Formats: sequence, C-alpha cells, structure tokens
Amino acid sequence: MNKITVIGAGNVGATVANVIAHKDLAREVILVDIKEGVAEGKALDIWQTGSINNFNTKVVGVTNDYLRTKGSGIIVITSGLPRKPGMSRDDLIKTNASIVKEVTEKAIMYSPEAVIIVVSNPLDVMTYVAYRAARKSSQKIFGMAGILDTGRYKTFIANALDVSAKDVHGLLLGGHGDTMVPLPRYTSINGIPVTELLGEEEITKIVERTRKGGGELVNLMGTSAWYAPGAAAAQMVEAIVDDQKRVFPVCAYLTGEFGIKNLYLGVPVKLGKNGIEEIIEIKLNAEETKLLMESAKSVKELTEIVDGLGLFED
Ligand code: LAC
Repeated sequence: MNKITVIGAGNVGATVANVIAHKDLAREVILVDIKEGVAEGKALDIWQTGSINNFNTKVVGVTNDYLRTKGSGIIVITSGLPRKPGMSRDDLIKTNASIVKEVTEKAIMYSPEAVIIVVSNPLDVMTYVAYRAARKSSQKIFGMAGILDTGRYKTFIANALDVSAKDVHGLLLGGHGDTMVPLPRYTSINGIPVTELLGEEEITKIVERTRKGGGELVNLMGTSAWYAPGAAAAQMVEAIVDDQKRVFPVCAYLTGEFGIKNLYLGVPVKLGKNGIEEIIEIKLNAEETKLLMESAKSVKELTEIVDGLGLFED
C-alpha cells in the first residue's frame, strides 16, 4: 500500500506505526499528533530502525498536518485520553468523542476512500462516532478490540495448559468492556475443544481475567496498554493490505445480524481489501445469546450518551 496514516502518536499509535513498518505494509506511514514534535520524533526513531530491522517503510511524523496524509488507503485512529487507574473506558466518553469526531472529519477530507480502523476508547462508541463523522459505508469503518481481547484470552489459556499460544484458537463477542463475551465453546487448541482440556472453574477464571484484562494493565502501569493493542490493530491493517480474508472478531456495525440493529459491537468478520467483507453469524446457545444481549445493551446506553452530546446535526 502506498500510504497508511496513524492518528495519535501516544503509546498505542506509535506502536501501531512501529509494527506496520516492521511488517513493511506500506511505502509510507504518516504519524499525526497535536503535540508539536512528538509524532516527528517517534516517527524518526522508528524509521531509523529500518536498516537494523530490515524494512523499507518510511515513517513520517507531522503535527496536525492532514494534507500530508492525503491519499491514505488506511487510517488508524488512536487519538484520545487513555484510562487512568479507577477510570472505566466509559469515563472517557465526552472528551474522546469530540476528539475522534474532529480527527475523523479532517482525515477523511484528504482520504475519502480510506478504510478507517478505530482504536480509541470507549471503543465501540468511538467507532460509532467515527462512522457518524465520516458518513461513509460501515464496511470501511470498524474498530479494533476483539483481536486484543482474544489475544489476552489465548495467552491465559496457553499459560494454563503450558502450550504454545499460537495453537490456541478462540472467539469473543460483544463490546470492549467488562461485558465482553469470550466463547469457550468456540475455543480450541488446534481443534481440541478447550472444554476437554480445562475444567469449568479454570475456564471461568480465564474468562473473568480476560474481561478485566485492560483494567489489570491500567492498574499495573497507571495508564492503558499499548503493545498488544498496537499489534492487534496492525494485524487488521495487514489483513486489509494483503487482502488476506482473515476471520477476526471486529467491532462492526450491525444491521440485524445476531438480532441486533444499528449498533457497533464485536462480532466475527472476514477482513480483506474492501474492509469488512462479511459478518459471520455464528450460532449461539441461550446463555451466550443472553450475554451478548447484555453487552449490546451496555454499548447501546453509551451510544445514546454520544447521541445526546449534540455532536452531529442530523
Ligand atoms: C485495553 C485498552 C486499550 O484493553 O482498552 O488495554
């Protein structure tokens, strides 16, 4: 791909840019921030690893210069305040909604065809904000959460079984919050159902730790995580750039799938060059459906808060 833009040069944005460059996914990565010098410095630092780590991608940092992002094929939005200890992702809603709206409008002006991947929190509603601001097909606007959350889930399972995390396959639905729905019934170790290898109690503990996985890191570091979120967003970029048709849980706009309408929520999708090429409606049992509906309800409440902010005219 010619150009990929990453907005926000904080920990997550810089990590996304770094992983994209390492994977040589674009000729140029433009890193944008509002703080003078930060994006320029981090981009230069990443670019200077090219000869060491063997990649060609040029990484360029700019301060609020959206003209430089012109013609990007993908825009990754990481702007906004991160969580601090004691804060839920939802506490960030008002501040981050206006930031995400503004950067989406500016970026889309110069790259109307771009696929937009939102990473800002609270994730599901910030993806909705970007969708409202960009006014384009939801096939090309979605959010990163499921790969991160399943990444955590798979790590905990691999650790409990002392097997390679590469062999753990799993799925998770719902919002990027404490109501997320990891699905042990759809989790396997290279085909062996996890339910045959781990007891119910142990699985329940892992599911709980996964749900609070972001908070665990906030408590440890005083701010939110970046290595796994950055790697997860870059994996989505890679699936799009290489038209891989990967199947990932992604925060997507639902128009009736799973019985849910007009809401951004984590579901399995196929990702390729056109963005979301399919939403895969898997069968859920009564308990899983109940959990998904609870998650949808909590995301819906946040979405209504955003609607009530009066950010959008129509
Ligand atoms: C997390 C934050 C980034 O889950 O949402 O780590």
